Amino acid sequence: MTSAYVNPLRDDQDRRLPQIAGPCSVTIFGITGDLATRKLIPAIYDLANRGLLPPGFSLIGFARQDLDLDGFIKLAYEAAKSRARTPFREEVWKQLEAGIRFVRGDFSDDLAFAELARTIAAVDDERGTGGNHAFYLSIPPGFFPQVVGQLKEHGLAEVSDGSWRRVVIEKPFGHDLASAKELNKIVSDVFPRESVFRIDHYLGKETVQNILAFRFANGMFEPIWNSNYIDHVQITMAEDIGIGGRAGYFDGIGAARDVIQNHLLQLMALVAMEEPVSFNAYSLRIEKQKVLASARTPERIDLHTARAQYTAGWAGGEHVAGYLEEADIPATSTTETYAAIRLDVDTRRWAGVPFYLRAGKRLGRRVTEVAVVFKRAPHQPFTKTATEELGQNALVMRIQPDEGVTLRFGSKVPGTAMEIRDVNMDFAYGGSFVESSPEAYERLILDVLLGEPPLFPQHEEVELSWEILDPIIEKWSRSSKIDTYESGTWGPASADAMIARDGRTWRRP
Ligand code: BG6
Repeated sequence: MTSAYVNPLRDDQDRRLPQIAGPCSVTIFGITGDLATRKLIPAIYDLANRGLLPPGFSLIGFARQDLDLDGFIKLAYEAAKSRARTPFREEVWKQLEAGIRFVRGDFSDDLAFAELARTIAAVDDERGTGGNHAFYLSIPPGFFPQVVGQLKEHGLAEVSDGSWRRVVIEKPFGHDLASAKELNKIVSDVFPRESVFRIDHYLGKETVQNILAFRFANGMFEPIWNSNYIDHVQITMAEDIGIGGRAGYFDGIGAARDVIQNHLLQLMALVAMEEPVSFNAYSLRIEKQKVLASARTPERIDLHTARAQYTAGWAGGEHVAGYLEEADIPATSTTETYAAIRLDVDTRRWAGVPFYLRAGKRLGRRVTEVAVVFKRAPHQPFTKTATEELGQNALVMRIQPDEGVTLRFGSKVPGTAMEIRDVNMDFAYGGSFVESSPEAYERLILDVLLGEPPLFPQHEEVELSWEILDPIIEKWSRSSKIDTYESGTWGPASADAMIARDGRTWRRP
């Protein structure tokens, strides 16, 4: 008998109705940590509140902290109540609470993992989770190999009778290409490729998914989405916060590894990719990979990149400390809190169109946006004085906050004289839709439980991203000097000089 050929590029599934996850559990390692209490537990509550979790769903917390089941339930209750996006309802909580379990232990503790295996077998009996279990590693990356190894040792990665096991890995996936490959080998020895879900939470954001809708659902933009009309693209991820209590994680990693390697390169891939055959995982990944494989790291890293650290200054109306004065940061640290890089995408569509990526902490304000800046009109039938205040046309996709899209173009200033100035045409989510956007983690956790992979980068994308960044980080690491910028400003003078060399300026969002 010959089996029918299934074209992996096509996807005819109708996704208009929300899907509800089938029977399952999620075990979260690092359940008392910052990410779990701020994002993961509230997102699970929101999914329950929206009726998207199965009735017998079970949440299993695993942590070192000296807690028992009641203590964990209290912690989870407070996290959900204070941070849920949707209204808090006691009856929803009670239903969720019935499926909560807790295992206390170290990642090296065999007894704790044996206890986890018993707990999981018990929830299959008591809650009908049917052998379907996800393991979420919300832990420092140094522990990934150990936990994955323990899951294997205790038979937790083994499936039977059509059930599934999935592992969810938070970034960073390694700290360079070599370590990413090593990590991938460890994970893929235990879990098959389709069971590994790598989280890049930017892909869970509605506005990031809207880049695809904006580009491919409309007829107006795609014809001009190329080097004939586009001058350059600026992708900005500015944060007003400093590193907070994350010194241990951030120092030694820096802004480029923390957010450019993943979030910003993914944004670039979505902006630059060709139209996929469908929106299934296979087709999307192929197109993103082609962009990442064509991205060229500048030869003159000294001229086309910038990195810096924040110094003391004013942010949000208060005086804030510089990076080197933050708790647990060594006084000699040269870790960058700001990074800017120019990349070129060597394809016919993008030849000669630089992509400028920048990310920084303690900048003027929190904003993430993609600005597509167009070439000037080839001819201006106006006097020079008429167009003095006219910039270049730009299309700005505002990822957050004030989610929406702005088109900037020139308009005549009312009056007898012919004077032209930039104006904005605005689409704001809040003004056009009554539905509020789900949190990124709501979408991503649900997709893990449904086994929907399109929003999770494959290992190939991770490797290609490291290939782009490795030479830059290596070059930076050879210098013991780092530029600075005052907190509350828009970054270092070296970043302004970097883009000015190309005859351009950064946008002030
Ligand atoms: C994380 C980074 O991935 O994204 C953090 O590790 C950063 O350093 C955070 O603060 C920002 O996320 P968001 O969703 O607030 O833009």
